Amino acid sequence: MFKVNDNYQKLPGSYLFSTIARKVSEYQTAHPDKTLIRLGIGDVTQPLAPAIIGALHGAVDEMGDAATFRGYAPDLGYEFLRNAIAENDYRSRGCEISADEIFVSDGAKSDSGNIQEIFSVDNRIAVCDPVYPVYVDSNVMAGRTGTYDPASEVWSDVIYMPCTKENGFVPEFPKETPDMIYLCLPNNPTGTTLTKAQLQEWVDYANRVGAVIIYDGAYEAYISENDVAHTIYECEGAKTCAIELKSFSKNAGFTGVRLGYTVVPKELKCGDVSLHAMWARRHGTKFNGAPYIVQRAGEAVYSEAGKAQLAEQIAYYMKNAAAIRNGLTEAGFETFGGVNAPYIWLKTPDQMTSWEFFDYLLETANVVGTPGSGFGPSGEGYFRLTAFGTYENTLAALERIKKL
Ligand code: MLT
Repeated sequence: MFKVNDNYQKLPGSYLFSTIARKVSEYQTAHPDKTLIRLGIGDVTQPLAPAIIGALHGAVDEMGDAATFRGYAPDLGYEFLRNAIAENDYRSRGCEISADEIFVSDGAKSDSGNIQEIFSVDNRIAVCDPVYPVYVDSNVMAGRTGTYDPASEVWSDVIYMPCTKENGFVPEFPKETPDMIYLCLPNNPTGTTLTKAQLQEWVDYANRVGAVIIYDGAYEAYISENDVAHTIYECEGAKTCAIELKSFSKNAGFTGVRLGYTVVPKELKCGDVSLHAMWARRHGTKFNGAPYIVQRAGEAVYSEAGKAQLAEQIAYYMKNAAAIRNGLTEAGFETFGGVNAPYIWLKTPDQMTSWEFFDYLLETANVVGTPGSGFGPSGEGYFRLTAFGTYENTLAALERIKKL
């Protein structure tokens, strides 16, 4: 009889956003007359920018012509896109990352789930708490997390680094030494971030203890403050301890298009073993490259027109973020984040649990958000709203919340 990967049986419940989608769908079916406003999952609402649409059309036409048709993409990504990334996301910021240290993929969610594969199952992972659930769940699937305690909602072998109002959402160095440290900055879900100086301390710590940092920079485009690093490679020594994951979903609206990339510097080694070579081997074996059409769309993100149009999109979402922060504050809520990230993190009122507030908001205001406890035990008593809605819906949601 075949056996299954038992680690999957350890996963509690379903994936957070699947659970929310099911609850919302059940509510909508029971109340077809209600108009819901969805500020839950961080999915964009603005259409693709004209520069990107133009590039997509152009690439589709190329694929319809025998002279310009392309088959399998290079598994690590087309040179034109890797060069554009190296130039715009790194060299322009004074970071020496070369095109062949960049691995183009179908999105940062897959990369953030897959990257753990190249590490030993004996490694201890450290995560911020609350945390983007993919980091923990993918390590559960791999058998790296020990046993789950439903009462405390913690895994025995995971090192949790609480990020709460009390510590200003700044993780402290853990008492036990981790092997792999996941950092998402600006942070999902809290919408807060670290200064470059604080990030430098993490880089120094990782180099000192021999840990690798898996750095998720999906929300980098939303940074508005000068003392925040746009890439971990702005920090001295990061090339010997950090892998960086980037997404085109949040900066360019590619949630339905799918494109991302991972940087694995050649200097990053475990003894003599090159992580760059390992990831290249993994990528080459399990991935046949992001579609040509999509990579051309990605290239357009870095065109002059693309940059200008996307700056407007980011400003649009950040106007929502400011409206949410101000509106919630007026309504008496305590809020965090939303300055360098499109997420606003709030304290639930009246000691409600995160899920109690989720139900209350859904049923009373018909607004969908994300319960903080879904991101980890330290998220209990918090709630996340996204700034990725339309401006009109964002204002309408705030009006409803103010009436609660
Ligand atoms: C979120 O809402 O946390 C994000 O949309 C999830 C993701 O990017 O996969």
